[in-house]
Amino acid sequence: MAARDFYDSELVVATYDLLTEQGNPQINGDRAFYLDCAARHGGPVLELGVGTGRVAWALAEAGYSVVGLDRSAGMLRAAERKGAALPAATRARVQLTQADIADFDLDQRFPLALITFSTFQHLAAAEAQRACLASVHRHLQAGGRLVLDLFDPLLDACVPGAPSPNPDRQAIDPSSGDLLRRRSIRRVNDPSSQSFLETFRLERFDPSGRLLAQADATHHLRWATRQELRYLFELCGFEVEAEFGDFQRGAPAYGRRQIWIVRAL
Ligand SMILES: C[S@@+](CC[C@H](N)C(=O)[O-])C[C@H]1O[C@@H](n2cnc3c(N)ncnc32)[C@H](O)[C@@H]1O
Repeated sequence: MAARDFYDSELVVATYDLLTEQGNPQINGDRAFYLDCAARHGGPVLELGVGTGRVAWALAEAGYSVVGLDRSAGMLRAAERKGAALPAATRARVQLTQADIADFDLDQRFPLALITFSTFQHLAAAEAQRACLASVHRHLQAGGRLVLDLFDPLLDACVPGAPSPNPDRQAIDPSSGDLLRRRSIRRVNDPSSQSFLETFRLERFDPSGRLLAQADATHHLRWATRQELRYLFELCGFEVEAEFGDFQRGAPAYGRRQIWIVRAL
């Protein structure tokens, strides 16, 4: 297990939006998809692992109230900073709370919960994934929906010794002109726990190419097969309503996204 959480790294937090968003096929169209879910099922919306509010603020701008949970103080501060630039009415629609998504207790029930962009896979133990779904179930109204986005594991990349399938990413920070870079420098796969540790090196260079900051950060992610998730949903009191391979509602396909819409029974 990583000694320090990935999202405790200041450089991970500071570069998250730019390195996550730009030309990333994994989340292509995800915000529009979640906005459509909110239009169908209504708010308030519970978002687990809200991060910098990449999705939550878009929902708030469209008029939905959001309760966002995250355990990373740095990511929550980044979300608050983003909100500070928005109109007061939009800001008031988002409530950010520091909590562990594997076990939380809010005095509220929701028609819709979201766990976006592989956040569920940060729960690296199968027991934590089950506890998270049980917590979500307790917080959904009867018939409420949970929408989950996971990566569908590329099995070649999950065997011991396999290199990372994650391409290097880079982006220019428009506020400074700095070049931000993220590359995988180590990956250790453990098929017995269906999890891997992956270390990324993050770097910030000024426009002249001088290295301004560098940090290595490791995350621990767990992969799940589709059939495993079907059984897990059943165990936790959900029925599968829809399953897609991308945010354009494409059919489930090997190595793409696993996007699930499940309904609380
Ligand atoms: C990949 S980011 C996703 C952020 C945001 N939802 C998005 O789509 O951009 C994962 C987020 O989940 C949070 N996270 C991971 N494990 C968590 C846990 N057990 N409890 C609470 N938050 C967690 C991290 O701190 C991080 O902000």
